[in-house]
Amino acid sequence: TSSENGQITAMYQVANELYHHILVNTQIGEQALAYLHQRGLNDDMIAEFQLGYAPPKAVLQAVLKEKNKNLDYQILRKSGLFSVYEDGSLNDRFKDRVMFPIRNATGKIVAFSGRSLANDPNTPKYLNSPETTIFNKRKILFNFDKAKGAIRREKKCLLFEGFMDVLAAYSAGVKNSVASMGTSLTDEQIYLLQQNTKNIDLCYDGDLPGQKATKRALEILTPQNKFNLRVIALPDKMDPDEYLQKYGAEKFRTLINDSHETPLAFYMHFYEQGRNMDNEADQLDYLSDVLAEIAKLNDPLEQNLYLNKLAERLQLDKYYLEEKLKTLRQQYL
Ligand code: UTP
Ligand code: MN
Ligand code: MN
Ligand code: MN
Ligand code: MN
Repeated sequence: TSSENGQITAMYQVANELYHHILVNTQIGEQALAYLHQRGLNDDMIAEFQLGYAPPKAVLQAVLKEKNKNLDYQILRKSGLFSVYEDGSLNDRFKDRVMFPIRNATGKIVAFSGRSLANDPNTPKYLNSPETTIFNKRKILFNFDKAKGAIRREKKCLLFEGFMDVLAAYSAGVKNSVASMGTSLTDEQIYLLQQNTKNIDLCYDGDLPGQKATKRALEILTPQNKFNLRVIALPDKMDPDEYLQKYGAEKFRTLINDSHETPLAFYMHFYEQGRNMDNEADQLDYLSDVLAEIAKLNDPLEQNLYLNKLAERLQLDKYYLEEKLKTLRQQYL
């Protein structure tokens, strides 16, 4: 019910204030605070995004009940803030994690993601809130509430994978960015973007999962014909946050503002991977992959541009590529 949702939303707000307080004001939070500083986030950024720290010991029930004497067990259970044991007892879901509040489009906190401080392969790097009556992960883009105005003003949205990428961009003065919180972009997230801009710059991680996710995002977004898509490719398998830490804000802004490439330019790099471009069998596979992408283009001028590039890349006569393209085109008409 809506009154339950109101109570749960209030609980997230209280939890966030507690986690933030522990991070910035207490000794228990010192290590986590040092971790964030070491990752390049200053106190202004930590305050702006209301980052927090969930301590190793359970703290939440006592604080929530102190704030609201009427909180009943069912609401606590439904909130997603607790793990439920077999005997029904509740324990804080987030322990010993750096807390990133996740807000809905109106800026209300509806979930958390907690980053583990340890590099332990047995625990997820980021632990997220479960789906609740106020949180449907498919419908949320991280930072959309803050970025919306900038997206409209700058007529463009930058799409990242992760929380730290958005924060890195923000600290470098790039405010029109959101994160899909992982590599799968949903229809609901696309709808949010569509209502605010036609221009999307995809800036996923430079590693293979990130590149595959870029390809997948292009495959979903392109046929809709609603977006003007560009790809910002990161060098050396880096992610945007790592790029900023390594090269600084100035170079980061240059990357973001001047290094976007077309989807076809992205594909021309992408399909080279894992192939020996001096080997003829690999060349032919590459050729058919790239030609298939060119065949999907609507603009004959653009097709011509990339046919030229492809012919040049493989030292082939463009005439044969054109012939091959004609047969491929039949499939898309
Ligand atoms: P990445 O694996 O690229 O992590 O996941 P990251 O953002 O670079 O994290 P840092 O820099 O090591 O802290 C991209 C995004 O996917 C989601 C998170 O939103 C993360 O920011 N993710 C990743 C999860 O939800 N759970 C995970 O275990 C890992
Ligand atoms: Mn990644
Ligand atoms: Mn990453
Ligand atoms: Mn990262
Ligand atoms: Mn651009």
